[in-house]
Amino acid sequence: MRGATDRGELADQDLALDLETNDEEEDRHQPVIDPVRRHQQDPTSSVAARERTERREKSIGGRGDLGHVRNDASSAGHWPRGPAAEPCTSGTATLRAIWQIPLTTMIRQLVILGATGDLTRRSLLPAVASLLADRRLPADFRVTAVGRRDWDDRAYLHWLLPPSPGTDLLEPARRALEGVVAYRSADLTDPRQLRAILAPAMDPMVLYLALPPAVFAPAIESLTVAGLPTGSRVVIEKPFGSDLASARQLNELLHGLLPEDSVYRIDHFLHKQTVQNILGLRFANRVFESIWSTAHIEEIEIVWDEALGLEGRASYYDRAGALLDMIQNHLLQLLALISMEGPKSLDPGDLRDRKVEVLRAIRRFDPSEVATRTTRARYTAGVVAGRAMPSYVDEPGVDPSRHTETYAEATFSIDNPRWAGTSFRLRTGKALARPRREILVHFHDVQQVVFREVASASANLLHLTLDPDTITFRLNINGAGDPFTLETVNLDVQLAAQEIPAYGRLLLGILDGDATFSIRDDEAEEAWRVIEPIAVGWREGISPLGEYEAGSAGPRPGTQLVVDQASR
Ligand code: BG6
Repeated sequence: MRGATDRGELADQDLALDLETNDEEEDRHQPVIDPVRRHQQDPTSSVAARERTERREKSIGGRGDLGHVRNDASSAGHWPRGPAAEPCTSGTATLRAIWQIPLTTMIRQLVILGATGDLTRRSLLPAVASLLADRRLPADFRVTAVGRRDWDDRAYLHWLLPPSPGTDLLEPARRALEGVVAYRSADLTDPRQLRAILAPAMDPMVLYLALPPAVFAPAIESLTVAGLPTGSRVVIEKPFGSDLASARQLNELLHGLLPEDSVYRIDHFLHKQTVQNILGLRFANRVFESIWSTAHIEEIEIVWDEALGLEGRASYYDRAGALLDMIQNHLLQLLALISMEGPKSLDPGDLRDRKVEVLRAIRRFDPSEVATRTTRARYTAGVVAGRAMPSYVDEPGVDPSRHTETYAEATFSIDNPRWAGTSFRLRTGKALARPRREILVHFHDVQQVVFREVASASANLLHLTLDPDTITFRLNINGAGDPFTLETVNLDVQLAAQEIPAYGRLLLGILDGDATFSIRDDEAEEAWRVIEPIAVGWREGISPLGEYEAGSAGPRPGTQLVVDQASR
């Protein structure tokens, strides 16, 4: 099991979609749904808006989340193992704890395009099964799973949840999904076939494009011709384009299908509970807000080191590499949340305005900065956690001449009054010795230390680990026994278990029409403006491609956390 093969790409056999269609022109003239109606606002969204704001204010902030016991059973990609609950029979069934979304305002029909791919099998349908088992979806919630293979519902469920001899741990998930998921076979690039699937439905639907990037545009074109019921929403996974120009084109295509407020560009990191807790930590604590600037903070590091290697994802990863797979989206989003100005409210418009502003303020590198402020490398053979790992270039499906990096690092500056002078170092890599998912906020040293051993005054450090979710604050205190010396201690807190996996939270938000944690069109383009100079520079050979041994600490070992060493 792993959580990393499951995003935005399909098994190899699904990549071979036939992009040719002879009937497309003819179909363009026969939309079954009036395109004007299609652009009307979802009638349910205004009803739910105020409730959503109230819920958000309750659920973000972490106040009530601190100090609970962590429960790992809910991580993304896991099928639910508990007994399946009876479906909800009332529109306002009692739900537990956070995310108490009234079932009545949710869209009840999810259509997954790309249903025979990894993303659907490892993340989307496990999340649906969990939500059903936890009674977080309406009783009449239905999924139409669309793929190219010529299967019926039974064959599809068999592929999704293969029975195993002995104790069948997947039985609860199977029971949750039976009768809810219907499989339909179609060529997504043929609008007539799509229309045959979509037209009978009159109610709004959520269309999830769980497709390889090459199929996004043809599928959106087909959907535009086929037409969607009023109030429908479309969801698109990363990578959103391959550069600024292609991201713009994709935005234009999407806007031809649905208005921007019905488009949900997904970055699953934004649905991780700890990531959302950055907002609570920053904006609900006066003590942090007042020191959150270059006057007090020297450097912020955002680190996502993985022990996992390629794990059979060459068809996608070898064309993306670490920069586009992780930094262009996930890590820049973390950077935006950690550095943006305080939003007026947590409404999608206000929050995303602030993120776009700060993305715009990140300095674009010129070629000399690409050379001095970025690092790229790929792993050679080694041993990771006792497992022998081949060299990246020997992994099946990898083309060594692409020079794909499996490690990427960049140190950004933000040119605004709050941050001028602070460095933002983003780093990520695969096949590294120790998985690290964390944000480190390094404060400046104190200006004058009056204690005997000046050198022992460590700079303050705020350390957020994302999964396991902890917050640690490193402080200096008087030495035990000798008050004129110093000691370093850590204040620790472990955050509550994530009750709903990231993909479950993401689906609930979309079904409820809440775009707070999806990426807006301008935000997607701004992220490319930051990354494109680096991608271009690397293609041109500025900044050489280094190597590091699988199982090592990477080409630049990075910060050795004092947090690891300090006594607890
Ligand atoms: C995905 C990347 O988006 O995020 C993977 O494509 C990466 O390469 C993964 O491993 C990390 O996210 P998570 O949630 O699985 O830790």
